[in-house]
Formats: sequence, C-alpha cells, structure tokens
Amino acid sequence: MNPITSALMPNATNMIRLDHTHTMATFHQYKTSSKPQVKRGLVNTVCLALEVHAQLEEEIFYPAVREVTDNEAIKKAVPEHAEMKRLIALLRDMEPEDVRYDDTFMELMRDVMHHVADEETQILPEAERLLQDQLGELGGRMMKRRLELVAPRTADIAVNMARAMPAPSIAMLAGATVAGVLLGRRLMRH
Ligand SMILES: [Fe+2]
Ligand SMILES: [Fe+2]
Repeated sequence: MNPITSALMPNATNMIRLDHTHTMATFHQYKTSSKPQVKRGLVNTVCLALEVHAQLEEEIFYPAVREVTDNEAIKKAVPEHAEMKRLIALLRDMEPEDVRYDDTFMELMRDVMHHVADEETQILPEAERLLQDQLGELGGRMMKRRLELVAPRTADIAVNMARAMPAPSIAMLAGATVAGVLLGRRLMRH
C-alpha cells in the first residue's frame, strides 16, 4: 500500500469505531412519534449498515483476533451477531405501523449498544495490543470487501435516505457509506 493510500485508509480498529459511531447516531434519530416512512428509512439504513459491519468483522477481523486471543468477548461476538440478524429479519417482515415495530427496534438498539460496548472496551484494545502490525493490512482488506458488499446496494441506500430525509444523521450514515465506496474504488486502483 503506498503512503497516500495508507494515510487515507483507516486501520481495522478505527474503521470499526467509525462504523459504530455512525450507526449509533442513526439509532438516536428514531422517534416513536415519527411518520412510518421515516421509521422505515431509518430502520433499513441501520439494518444494512449492521449487516455489512457484522460481515466484515466475521470474515476478516474476528478470525485475526481469534489467532491471538480467546477472551470472553470474542467468544460471544458471533452469537450476538446472530441475535441481531434475527431481529433484523423480524423488522424486515413487519410494517412500521405494527404495534411490535418500535419495541423490536428498541430491542435491536439495546443489543447493539451492549455488543458495541464489549467490542470497544475488550476486543479493540486487545487487538491494538496484539495485532498492532496487522491493523493497516486488515483495514485495507475490510475496505475492499465493503466495496463488494455495498456497491450493489447503493440504490437501496438512496431510497432509504430519501424516506428518512428529515433525520440529518441518516444522510451522514448513508453519505459516509456511499462516499466510502467512491473513495475506496479510487484507492483500490492504486
Ligand atoms: Fe462492531
Ligand atoms: Fe460485532
């Protein structure tokens, strides 16, 4: 990786923190009093971002961490992702007018907050201690994989952003995702 590319490409742990920050900001936009289509836009955006994030962790980041540690948080991480995916599937099958919609989304938010807290206080610091030299390379692989996963879904991202338009941070999350794709494509050519 040339010096310009490595300066612009976040390492693996910083990329994970950035994803967490964007996702939490979108969670915070959700209001039970919002219009159904705004809720749908927010929920779809969060669900897609979580799926891509979880896949990057499961395929690239967690296996590298498991090579160097078997702490409790890393053992629980994949089962916790599975529970999030179950809630995401429930939300996708429901209409925003459904009486269970808000509670299911709040349950997802609670699970994600708990999971993110474990990652940021246990897994990421451990990775930074034990995988210091590999974090840049892992970040590059995660960016490349992100492009593959997000590129076919840019139309969905735009629709969800339009639905939830009054919510400013959804634009930030969707914009960051699309900008990441464009930037990543350019970087990958070098
Ligand atoms: Fe994470
Ligand atoms: Fe995770």
